[in-house]
Parts: sequence; structure tokens; C-alpha cells
Amino acid sequence: MVREWDPRTASSDEIASVLDTLNAVLAADLPQDPPWRENSLREYLSEVMPGERRISWVAEGDPGPDGAPGPILGHVHVLLLGDIGVLEVLVHPEARRTGLGRQLVLTAARRVYQEGFRSIGVEVVGDTPAVAFYESLGFLREYVETRSVLDLGTVDWPALTEMAGGVGAGYHLEFCPGGPPDDLIEAYARAKAEVRDVDDGELRPSSYDPQRLRDSLDTLHRRGMKPYIVLALHEQTGQVAGLTEVVVPAQHPTRADQYDTIVVQDHRGYGIDRAIKARMLLELRSAEPTLGEVQTWNAQANEAMLKVNAELGYRPDREWCEYSVDVAELVHRLDASR
Ligand SMILES: CC(C)(COP(=O)(O)OP(=O)(O)OC[C@H]1O[C@@H](n2cnc3c(N)ncnc32)[C@H](O)[C@@H]1OP(=O)(O)O)[C@@H](O)C(=O)NCCC(=O)NCCS
Repeated sequence: MVREWDPRTASSDEIASVLDTLNAVLAADLPQDPPWRENSLREYLSEVMPGERRISWVAEGDPGPDGAPGPILGHVHVLLLGDIGVLEVLVHPEARRTGLGRQLVLTAARRVYQEGFRSIGVEVVGDTPAVAFYESLGFLREYVETRSVLDLGTVDWPALTEMAGGVGAGYHLEFCPGGPPDDLIEAYARAKAEVRDVDDGELRPSSYDPQRLRDSLDTLHRRGMKPYIVLALHEQTGQVAGLTEVVVPAQHPTRADQYDTIVVQDHRGYGIDRAIKARMLLELRSAEPTLGEVQTWNAQANEAMLKVNAELGYRPDREWCEYSVDVAELVHRLDASR
């Protein structure tokens, strides 16, 4: 049975059951990824940016002999933002190939259509069943990135210390746990606005104006995700010349996510990219002693960034693809095939 589900008011048993399914999916599809924990999972599933909405549904298995609710074997949510619905679907490995995934997509797609949105986007991990699944539903591949993972156990720390100090004269680096300080928010947003199409941020919306940036930091905190930032400041102008962002999620605190890394055009060629990333890893080593890995996503064409990541010890892991489909066509196709 598929029913609409609100993680804000869901029972703790339901949250635990979603977590079990998520971890069974990870074990089947991405066995090297750390399992998720329940810490702030409810908030992770509920909290959104102002102006965005997330709608969720679950599919329950049969009730137990004592009438207790069945386990949650499938979960779908769609995040409505701008003119697109961003979809995420999970089906427990033991419940796959029975049409449940298709049913969950149809349920969400109908709502997205009713809400007046035109397209649906989804992130699809390369070399998993999701590729054939979304292609069978008519989704088209729009964009491919490579995920790379750095095992902190393999890092050459003395070499990294040298890299962190290798920034050109006239710049200094600043470590900002929690987010940029308030007096630098405007300069920070300007740096992000200037380089909106250059770095890793393609699959996740970046924040370009100060208010949106504040909202985005606030949303991260509410979702249990702790941001860390290293800035390169241009001493002469006070400009943010470069920045790198890493987030440590309460749900999988042993593996952090690298978000944007930006070096503003006028400040390229001074070793900022390498230095800010190296400094970040050094800081994380003491700020998050249980952290074991960092993962990052890069466009395959972004050779400069890939080269620096390789020097730091990142190893390419999987293709990470963005697919999309026209909602009306999807609903029509799925209804016609029923
Ligand atoms: C992708 C996923 C949702 C599919 O769920 P499902 O319930 O097995 O899908 P369905 O049974 O509705 O399959 C619909 C169609 O998709 C295609 N398909 C699905 N899985 C497939 C596979 N492993 N190989 C080939 N085709 C597949 C088939 O055409 C299938 O139709 P058929 O069974 O009649 O041939 C499920 O595998 C899943 O949860 N994957 C994890 C997704 C994810 O986001 N992971 C993130 C962390 S890795």
C-alpha cells in the first residue's frame, strides 16, 4: 500500500523502518558507503529551504501476525523547487522488480503534474539498477559527474601542510566552522555569484545572494548537517578570492560531503584551490576526529579541479548522473502501461 507520509509527524518506528530500507539499499548498491544513522534523520527528511516543499510517500509491507504495521519497503519524495520536482525513490532490495518503484514514481509524478510543475529531475548513481529503471521510464541523461572519495587514512599530512601554506603573497586563509562570519556573508555571496558555472555545484543549488546564503546555512543546520568553510581573503581588497565548503552530516558523520569550491577568476593561478582544500582537510582532522572519508563530485571536463583532487589523494569512485523527464509525458506513459 502506498500512502502519503509526513516525516515530521511519523512515529519513531516508521523513521527506523525507512532507515533500515535506506541501509539495505546502500548495502546492495553502494556497499563501500557508510551506513546511515538515525541522528537527525527526521529533520533531514523534513526540513527544506524557504519557498521549497517536499512531499513524501511510503509503501508498507504486510502487517505482522499481531496486526503491527508492516515494514516500510519503499519510499519516495519529491522536492518542489523553481519549476522542477526533484525525485528520490528507494525500494528495499527484497521488494524489487515487482513494479513498486514504478508505482512510487507514478504517485509522485501525478502530484508534481497537478501542482503545475513541468519536469522531474533525479540523481542516478552509475552502475546501479536505477540506471535501467529510469531509462525504462523514459528519463534522459542530462549531465554526468564523477564522484571521488578521499580516504583520510591514506593522506600524506606533512605534504598537505606544505600545500596549505603554498598560497601566493597577498592572500590569507581563514577557517570558519559553521559558516562564513556575518561580516563576510556579502563578499562570500559575491564570490559564489561570479563563478556559478565553474565548479562542483551543478547538481545542488548554490546560494548566490546573501539572504539565500543565510537561509541555506540555516537549512543545513536544521537538517543536522554541519558546514565547514575555508576562505582565501585577498588582503588588499578584502574580497573573498576563493572558498571551499565541506559538510559533515549527522546521518553519516564518518564520510563528509565536499560542496562548492570556487576560485574567483581574477585570483586564479596563485595556488588557492590546492591551499584551501589542503587547509580544510587539516582543520577537519582536529575538528572531526571520527571523520574517515570525504566525497566530492566534479564535472568530467573540469580537469584542473580533478588534477588537484588527485594530488590530495581523491580516487574516482562512481559516475553520478542527472536525469530528467517531462512530467506530462511520464504520467501519460505510466498510465498507458498500467
Ligand atoms: C531503482 C529502483 C527504485 C527500482 O525499483 P523496483 O521496484 O525494482 O522497480 P520496478 O520493479 O518498478 O521496475 C520497473 C522497470 O525498471 C527496469 N528495471 C528496474 N530494475 C532493473 C534492473 N536491476 N535491471 C534492469 N532493468 C531494471 C525494468 O524495465 C523494470 O520493469 P520489469 O521488471 O517489468 O522488467 C530500486 O532499484 C532502488 O531503490 N534503487 C536505489 C535507488 C537509489 O536512489 N539509490 C541511492 C543510493 S544508491
